[in-house]
Amino acid sequence: MAELDTATKRMDLKEQINKERLPKHVAIIMDGNGRWAKQRGKMRVYGHEQGVTSVRETAEAAAEIGVDYLTLFAFSTENWKRPQHEVEALMQLLVATINSETKTLQDNDIRLKAIGNLDKLDKKCYEELQQAINNTKDNKRMDMILALSYSARWDLTHATEQIARKVKNNELAPEEISQDTVSSHLATAPYPDPELLIRTSGEYRISNFLLWQIAYAELYFTPKLWPDFRKNDFYEAILNFQRRERRFGKISEQVANKEKGE
Ligand code: IPE
Ligand code: IPE
Ligand code: MG
Repeated sequence: MAELDTATKRMDLKEQINKERLPKHVAIIMDGNGRWAKQRGKMRVYGHEQGVTSVRETAEAAAEIGVDYLTLFAFSTENWKRPQHEVEALMQLLVATINSETKTLQDNDIRLKAIGNLDKLDKKCYEELQQAINNTKDNKRMDMILALSYSARWDLTHATEQIARKVKNNELAPEEISQDTVSSHLATAPYPDPELLIRTSGEYRISNFLLWQIAYAELYFTPKLWPDFRKNDFYEAILNFQRRERRFGKISEQVANKEKGE
């Protein structure tokens, strides 16, 4: 009965979503795995393992309603500073998950991508990742972008370095540097900026994720810990997004008129 209720509620929430006003790109800071495990008297790694189900559910939910890009913060630059055994377990889990979930990606026509300082990943992990990226490269329904060994400051520093090199080589003049120049040198260059950023686990911070790209994103925080996050939670975030007025510095009347096509 409880299962039926969940299925009914999911249909309700999903049907309330306005397909004309979907965010094209949703980014998620998947947080709270450690606390979820601790609450159950288990090791932190158990929480990371359970978080895989949430990734699968969220990817399916996003693809089903027609989101084009889903970026998931899976491992930050700062996460390398965690105890070595946790870092190793996370890397192993990543390899195992990429292997086991490639079928989910294929079944849902999802193309896997990655952003971050990927050279820092260990060899096995890097190779598995590249293989899955290659295996799914012709999929068309949605891009799922894993942020691995990623931080916004790394991204911006790396972009600055590349731009400086072009200036030095006379390929670019300093006065030609525009916002587009910066955007096009970031790891996210192929993707539009996310319109919606979700963070789980009740923390109200960005933790060095996509700082440039979320300049005008709507932020959605939920107390749910990541391993508890399900399709309904994703749909709730989308519905919440759709109730907001995005003004981009203008006034309400201007935005309302634009929506009416005036
Ligand atoms: C998110 O969960 C996963 C990663 C950062 C890799 P955490 O491991 O940060 O879990 P909490 O925040 O300690 O509960
Ligand atoms: C952010 O979570 C990074 C990921 C979700 C991968 P953290 O758990 O590392 O963030 P802080 O340390 O609480 O800010
Ligand atoms: Mg955390």
